[in-house]
Amino acid sequence: IAALAAVPAFAEYPDKTITIVVPFAAGGPTDKVARDFAEALRKPLGNATIVIDNAGGAGGTIGAAKAARATPDGYTLLLHHVSMATSPALYRKLPYKTLDDFEYLGLINEVPMTVLSTKKLPAGNFGELRKWLESNRGKINLANAGVGSASHLCGLMLQNALKIEMQTISYKGTAPAMTDLISGHVDVMCDQTTNTTTQIEANTVKAYAVTTKRRLATPALAALPTLDESGLKGFDVSVWHGLFAPHGTPKAITDKLNAALKVALKDPAFVKSQESLGAVIINDARVNGPEHRKFVEAEIEKWGPVIKAAGQYAE
Ligand code: MLT
Repeated sequence: IAALAAVPAFAEYPDKTITIVVPFAAGGPTDKVARDFAEALRKPLGNATIVIDNAGGAGGTIGAAKAARATPDGYTLLLHHVSMATSPALYRKLPYKTLDDFEYLGLINEVPMTVLSTKKLPAGNFGELRKWLESNRGKINLANAGVGSASHLCGLMLQNALKIEMQTISYKGTAPAMTDLISGHVDVMCDQTTNTTTQIEANTVKAYAVTTKRRLATPALAALPTLDESGLKGFDVSVWHGLFAPHGTPKAITDKLNAALKVALKDPAFVKSQESLGAVIINDARVNGPEHRKFVEAEIEKWGPVIKAAGQYAE
């Protein structure tokens, strides 16, 4: 009996496949973070099998709801981002309670965004893009990943700063949106560098600016001015990503997952891949669950007024 009592609870965890729900389509920026991260998370979890479940739609709220409803046994997790903090202001009937229905397992990274257009647009810099947008008012198609997504938030702030309303075309993620931007079916998009860097390097789209306060070090992005220096004073958006589990997941398991997250964030392959795409790995107290939750609480407070000022609601 004594021996049994000595075995810590859930010592064998994980002993089956872990599913990480990604609330956007495969191939997009959130999916890229998730697949890189899952590879780095496997090792500290004893070479666990980790699979990605892309559950896109409604700006990430469908996937988040799916994870909130999952059995809290440590075998379903959620990798999500700033949408967790914007959706409460955008959805009157959010199918989950952001702060109560999840265990917060730690923040992972922060990803800058870039303003892009199809190559068909005759603009060579942000000033010329602004002029084109102003003279094509009412005919502009802006792509995003649904109301509440990071691309939606950035597009909303861009329209507000430019005082130009654009027609929004929503996708299950910015991977399918990027396909339509490259082909010219949509005109402009604001998306994360984990998705746009390779397209900018391949010259399949035009890039005009980054959404962060400081220019980026990534070679393919270093020449891009910030929106702040391009006339949109104070524009400052980057997309944090964090790991979550359904509320009620046992503490012994969430502690194990948090410890594994901290190891994963130092994994050389993970760091190299993410930093090559402009992402910044979190290396402060927000890698701990309580600070991750406190940070999201503050983000909800921060983005609520910005979104209400923009007067946009999903339903
Ligand atoms: C978004 O919020 O725009 C999503 O991150 C896009 C995606 O990951 O596909």
